[in-house]
Amino acid sequence: MTATQELFTPKQAYAKTASLFEEIIGNSSEQICRHIFTLLPPFPPNSIIHDNGSGTGQVTAEIMSTNPPPSIMIIATDANEYQVLGCRAKVEENGWLVEMNVMRAQALTFPDEYFTHSFTNFVVANLDEPEVCAGHIWRTLKKGGVAVVCTWAFMPHDLPMKKASAVTRGPDAKFALNWGGDWYLQSKLKDFMLSGGFEEQKIKISTSDVFLEIQDSKRWATILWSYLGTRDDGWHQEDEDRWDEAIEIMVKELESSPAYRKNSDGTASLRFTANVSISTK
Ligand SMILES: C[S@@+](CC[C@H](N)C(=O)[O-])C[C@H]1O[C@@H](n2cnc3c(N)ncnc32)[C@H](O)[C@@H]1O
Repeated sequence: MTATQELFTPKQAYAKTASLFEEIIGNSSEQICRHIFTLLPPFPPNSIIHDNGSGTGQVTAEIMSTNPPPSIMIIATDANEYQVLGCRAKVEENGWLVEMNVMRAQALTFPDEYFTHSFTNFVVANLDEPEVCAGHIWRTLKKGGVAVVCTWAFMPHDLPMKKASAVTRGPDAKFALNWGGDWYLQSKLKDFMLSGGFEEQKIKISTSDVFLEIQDSKRWATILWSYLGTRDDGWHQEDEDRWDEAIEIMVKELESSPAYRKNSDGTASLRFTANVSISTK
């Protein structure tokens, strides 16, 4: 790859920002958290909670919406600074007591047995060295503490994106980020937890559907292609030249998917399915 290729970005691509990230995921993470909280006892006083790979604070916000005891402490970490800045803005706007740090999930700097709860939602499937991340979740959790780790079991944009890539780039092109494949399987999530040190009989995995409301399929597809469409060797000039074609394919495939439902008010719902693991140490 040349330096020019590395720096090139199609003119149609949106720059990554916390607010566009929120537009992609809508309230899907919140829906999952609400489901998770039906499976957990309420947060006891003095809980120390890690929101690992926090994004802009989706898990943090849902914990705060449960009206937890004021003595709890939440620490949110994410590898990307723009996400931590987005999280900070949300925390300050709401006046929550939450600490935030830029930190990779594979290199947590917290002491051993520090957290009573550890949430790692929709982070691990894209990581290099996932077992290192699993080891840190285990290491930083107190004995008797609860680790929640979620992955996607189904994402409605998976095949549309792969088709857009195959048609506009050819069958051998690869995306920079991997998703889907084995990571859709509950067994992969279980193996992840086992690799960190969790015991099989203390890992419970279930699935939960969420419905993401989207206003405009074309805009949603364009933001998604901007975020996830990069190839393993960066964007190419061809991606700019065939941008509209890629987006058209994504929209057509999304709208014909069984996971897509048009609502009477003109919006649409997209079904996602999550694997939810709840494990105790
Ligand atoms: C799909 S978002 C999930 C955000 C949030 N946990 C939720 O449930 O909506 C994935 C997040 O993982 C972060 N991330 C990616 N690689 C990471 C890593 N190695 N360590 C920590 N966070 C990472 C991304 O910046 C992004 O904010």
